[in-house]
Amino acid sequence: MEHQRRTPSMEDAGELAGIEVLHPGGFDLSKRIGAIVNMKDKKVLEVACGRGTFACYFAKHFGARITGVDLNADMITASINRARAEGVADSTEFKIADASNLPFTRDSFDIVVSECGPVGLAPDPQRVVNEMVRVMKPGGHLVLHAPVWLKEVPDGARRDIEYRLGGRMFTLSEWDDMLRKAGLVEKWDEDWSGIEQIGKIRPGRKIRTLGDVFTLREKTLVVLPRVLRRYGCKGLLYLNESFKKVSPLFYDGTIGTYLMRSRKPDVHLPSS
Ligand SMILES: C[S@@+](CC[C@H](N)C(=O)[O-])C[C@H]1O[C@@H](n2cnc3c(N)ncnc32)[C@H](O)[C@@H]1O
Repeated sequence: MEHQRRTPSMEDAGELAGIEVLHPGGFDLSKRIGAIVNMKDKKVLEVACGRGTFACYFAKHFGARITGVDLNADMITASINRARAEGVADSTEFKIADASNLPFTRDSFDIVVSECGPVGLAPDPQRVVNEMVRVMKPGGHLVLHAPVWLKEVPDGARRDIEYRLGGRMFTLSEWDDMLRKAGLVEKWDEDWSGIEQIGKIRPGRKIRTLGDVFTLREKTLVVLPRVLRRYGCKGLLYLNESFKKVSPLFYDGTIGTYLMRSRKPDVHLPSS
């Protein structure tokens, strides 16, 4: 995330490490997305596309004409390079953009997708959802994948965990409210929770805790020096504590991850 924090979030650690897949469920989840919406020759917007891994995947395997946006310029450079390397430069386009203010006119895309995207990372989550809906054509689908609170957590603890993770998380009913307020209908969701989904971020690695998504090499040669340089020793200790504190919540079912799809009505309805 591009922001001024005095301590690193777990999201920051993932971005600094340069990991290609930054959402639980990995390619299995993205394959599922390709199955629940028809992307063939459709104009698709991926919001918070990260390193372009899935924009390229959707273009290559599902025939999407895809535009990926991300706030972080390094992510966009990596995405453009990836699209060239994978031979999908002609069906992909990447832009630096803030999800709170998407640089597209209304009704521009057939489908909008975001995997572990910016709704909870931006200062005004409802505004991000509204933006995604604004740029989507009537009848289009919004597909979001996000971490969710599945159990009640006292307010103070909830804020602490969200700060450590690097973004706000919502309950399923809070998601329902946000999507409804944005004018969407027919919400459908699917449970993608569980530590085995975290494991799919790094296929082939044994994942027992969230920290295991980084190899020893990534921890010592990339994350550690970058965190030390940017946040000092205190930042490193804080990050270590965050991984220890947050990991069990993914195991005990307090935090899950959900795939949600909803539809923009065919006619423009006056907003409530
Ligand atoms: C957890 S990563 C997910 C990346 C990618 N979707 C994936 O699954 O691999 C979150 C991404 O959101 C981007 N991001 C954060 N805030 C954003 C904003 N306001 N607008 C656009 N992108 C944002 C970050 O730069 C980062 O690439």
